[in-house]
Amino acid sequence: MIDPIADVADYRRAAQRRIPRFLFDYIDGGSFAETTLRRNVADLAAIDLDQRVMRDVSRIDTTTHLFGQPMAMPLILAPIGLAGLAARRGEVQAARAAAAAGVPFCLSTVSACSIEEVAAAARGFWFQLYTLRDRGFMGALIDRAAAAGCPVLVYTVDLPRPGTRYRDIRSGLTGAAGWRSDLRLFGQALARPGWAWDVGVNGRPLTLGNLRGIVGAKAPLGDFLGWLARNFDPAATWDDLAWVRARWQGPLIVKGVLHSDDAAAAIDAGADGIVVSNHGGRQLDGVVSAVAALPAIVDRVGGRTTILADGGVRSGLDILKLLSLGANGAMVGRPWAWSLGARGETGVRHLLDLLKVELETAMALTGQTKLTH
Ligand code: FNR
Repeated sequence: MIDPIADVADYRRAAQRRIPRFLFDYIDGGSFAETTLRRNVADLAAIDLDQRVMRDVSRIDTTTHLFGQPMAMPLILAPIGLAGLAARRGEVQAARAAAAAGVPFCLSTVSACSIEEVAAAARGFWFQLYTLRDRGFMGALIDRAAAAGCPVLVYTVDLPRPGTRYRDIRSGLTGAAGWRSDLRLFGQALARPGWAWDVGVNGRPLTLGNLRGIVGAKAPLGDFLGWLARNFDPAATWDDLAWVRARWQGPLIVKGVLHSDDAAAAIDAGADGIVVSNHGGRQLDGVVSAVAALPAIVDRVGGRTTILADGGVRSGLDILKLLSLGANGAMVGRPWAWSLGARGETGVRHLLDLLKVELETAMALTGQTKLTH
């Protein structure tokens, strides 16, 4: 018997039962003491919505246009590295679900499935880029995203080095690579036989699909964060954004901005939009949530650019809360990875249905039939 799923928290629990510990903790966790991770959720919970009545809310329209693209609702599936391990060829399944629901899926640089593999199954997904030390390879990634028809490039700037994630050290996902950690990961995989068969046996290759050229065919699963630290470039500056801008023709979004000066700098260097984000509480623990950062950023650059925000979105009500603070749209991260881990493509599709109905309900009860920006 499959338990009914009512909300995002149910998907989290269902994923925990289905996927191995190292993968669940990697998705679920944040950096250091996870203060910012908790804050993201708590700050959204503390935002008040304005109940309005008697406004004929019989027809609710959640559609919007962002970056020249029509969307069924102002929501994007955030880039999540390794999410493709949550289910067999997972990013392909998530991209299909998003396309069916009329919202963009954003593929991470460090995805399991490559740009080309996802493009063969679904069109119109976005691509997220990190600053790699190997600029030649980074430029080639930009070109591959363009060739695959990705309409939007998301350039993530908040990971000059990874925040320390204690849960990944404890699970064995990161730290000293070698037979001991391999054995530990293997044991955790065997404790989830459904996943082990679906992904471990039938979901191969388990590699970083986009990076085969520089990583080789074997995924550095045993020391994923160590690999990031060695290959991401901490020397990146706004000049690198200008370089990306010169190479990418379409809309370019800078992800990982919390300070209004940085928001202004991103736009000055050519960004068409920003994502106000603390990387889901996985980088600098102790920083504020997007909720807290948004007002100053909207004040500074609102009207001049398109503002997305993420961190802690767990319901359709949360999407409306971010919009009420001046964002044009929201990204959602962990919830889609949980739904993918729990039920694959069907799960992601269902999650997107849930969020849309919740957004419609929030709009109806606040007396809004259309989104205003
Ligand atoms: C992320 N995030 C992320 N961001 C990015 O630009 N590139 C990436 O590869 C990743 N990888 C990644 C892995 C995992 C497991 C998580 C949870 C997050 C950050 C992500 O895009 C987004 O900003 C946050 O997930 C938003 O917070 P919520 O919705 O997870 O609370």
